[in-house]
Amino acid sequence: MADKSNLLIFGATGSIGKYIIDAIVNARDSFGRIAIFTSPNTLTSKPDEINALRHKGVDILVGNIANRDEVLKAYDGVDTIISALGRGAIAAQIPLIQLANETPNIKRFLPSEYGTDIEYSPASQHEKPHQQKLKVRAALKEVRSDLEYAYVVTGPYADFPFYLGRSRSPRGGTFDVVAKKAVLLGDGQGRISLTACADVGKFVAHTLTHWDAARNRALKVNSFTTTPAEILAVFETHTKSTWSVEYTPLDELRALEKEAWDNGAPEATVYTLRRIWTEGGTLYDRRDNEDIGVTQTTTLSELVEDSIRKQVEELAPKH
Ligand SMILES: NC(=O)c1ccc[n+]([C@@H]2O[C@H](COP(=O)([O-])OP(=O)(O)OC[C@H]3O[C@@H](n4cnc5c(N)ncnc54)[C@H](OP(=O)(O)O)[C@@H]3O)[C@@H](O)[C@H]2O)c1
Repeated sequence: MADKSNLLIFGATGSIGKYIIDAIVNARDSFGRIAIFTSPNTLTSKPDEINALRHKGVDILVGNIANRDEVLKAYDGVDTIISALGRGAIAAQIPLIQLANETPNIKRFLPSEYGTDIEYSPASQHEKPHQQKLKVRAALKEVRSDLEYAYVVTGPYADFPFYLGRSRSPRGGTFDVVAKKAVLLGDGQGRISLTACADVGKFVAHTLTHWDAARNRALKVNSFTTTPAEILAVFETHTKSTWSVEYTPLDELRALEKEAWDNGAPEATVYTLRRIWTEGGTLYDRRDNEDIGVTQTTTLSELVEDSIRKQVEELAPKH
């Protein structure tokens, strides 16, 4: 793109959106206008985050993602849309894509992905948590040829409170610093690729600044590949103690998954994703990091240290 890109970000104050906007703001010289589109509710419920973004020169546009006129107004002068909308709003991206298609100045759309590869293998198309994201990809195949896309596929987030955290459903895997107890998935030796949330932001910013390599691709990027047993060893080293360990073999994980879906339990999606990861659904012959110029990523050791600090802080008395 000859001129600097004008960006509009949806979901910028969400769990991963905040890392994405941070990385974009850190690379601000590479971009033109940076704007976020947020709901009136978020404007009032997250005033500190919104003010911090304003101070960094981010334009705050307020509206409803389902309101055509408000969205079209926000699209004015923008060439790139980045969505970090949450799981509950994945399908809401389809009208956003259709409106982008009607707006000739919009040239790139990055849908909310940042997770498990929804086209990893032929079986992926049947996975329940993937259905809405698959429809979003299908919608992006229907647009004019000069509206391009990239899918930033990061696999699971490593950071506390995600993979390296203490889980409320420990049979689905947990690293509990206070109880010094881990539940490892599978036999604990299966390899898994994880991504630090800060690296998700970095990968998105680099996707935009390395567009010739990124356009119309699913980028398989991650911070490192490890095993549950290796993660436990790093926790034990950093806490200078031996932890108690249990395992949730794959067949038990599959049974938990089935039971959760049968009962409409909220953790059903998490069980499915963790089963996919334990089956090897985050592993590739190569990662695409370097294609978009990312040569340095956060380490497992850094994230374990961070998880230990946050788990201890969580239990400390509040003043
Ligand atoms: N790889 C992983 O381990 C992992 C973990 C979690 C999530 N993810 C993925 O990351 C992406 C973003 O998820 P997130 O957890 O960061 O999102 P989130 O924090 O739940 O939500 C992000 C933002 O989306 C907007 N939103 C509007 N309507 C919504 C609705 N009905 N439901 C949910 N959000 C709505 C809200 O922003 P406004 O109020 O500003 O509109 C919200 O702050 C998703 O694609 C998700 O699947 C991956």
